[in-house]
Amino acid sequence: MKEINIGQATAITSPDPLMLVCTKKEDGALNMAPVSFFMYASFTPPMLAFAMLPTANSSVNLLRTGKAVLAAPSVSLRDAVMAYGSSSGSDKNKLEEHPVALQTMEGVDVSFPVDTRIAFAVTLEQTVQAGDHNLYLCRIDNISADESREALFAWEGGAKVAPAQEK
Ligand SMILES: Cc1cc2nc3c(=O)[nH]c(=O)nc-3n(C[C@H](O)[C@H](O)[C@H](O)COP(=O)(O)O)c2cc1C
Repeated sequence: MKEINIGQATAITSPDPLMLVCTKKEDGALNMAPVSFFMYASFTPPMLAFAMLPTANSSVNLLRTGKAVLAAPSVSLRDAVMAYGSSSGSDKNKLEEHPVALQTMEGVDVSFPVDTRIAFAVTLEQTVQAGDHNLYLCRIDNISADESREALFAWEGGAKVAPAQEK
């Protein structure tokens, strides 16, 4: 074995889970950003955790509203995911620039893409500063899934997104 750094490690653990963090901006517009730092955190009650830079517009929105939908994007969203991951909702309306078809879950006022394999509506419970990221521990309020859709995963430390097994 040889010693490597964390960037190399994220490439070696590929494919990593990929979620679009959907949040509401202060002006009411929807924002989306991909994250690969994602995990389940508890069965009872159902909880998940994910880590984002505190400066991300998604972080600002989550800390203000306490609400988000984490949606696992499916294959038709490949280009949109990369576009949403390379610009900030603080500077622009990403959904206006790269529109995708949207849906909602009953009782949840944050939309998410139609082409989603699984979506979690969450409420922020705890924020832990984790080095240069914030770790968000969230209660899962609702889960919806469409197993017929094929999920995208993060490869090579987020340099590309693709199915877990390329056909
Ligand atoms: C495949 C992929 C995975 C990413 N994973 C994360 C992550 O886990 N945490 C994070 O803070 N940023 C991650 N990013 C970068 C954010 O998506 C990016 O900083 C985005 O511009 C933030 O948008 P926002 O300012 O609108 O929230 C990832 C980007 C890509 C393309």
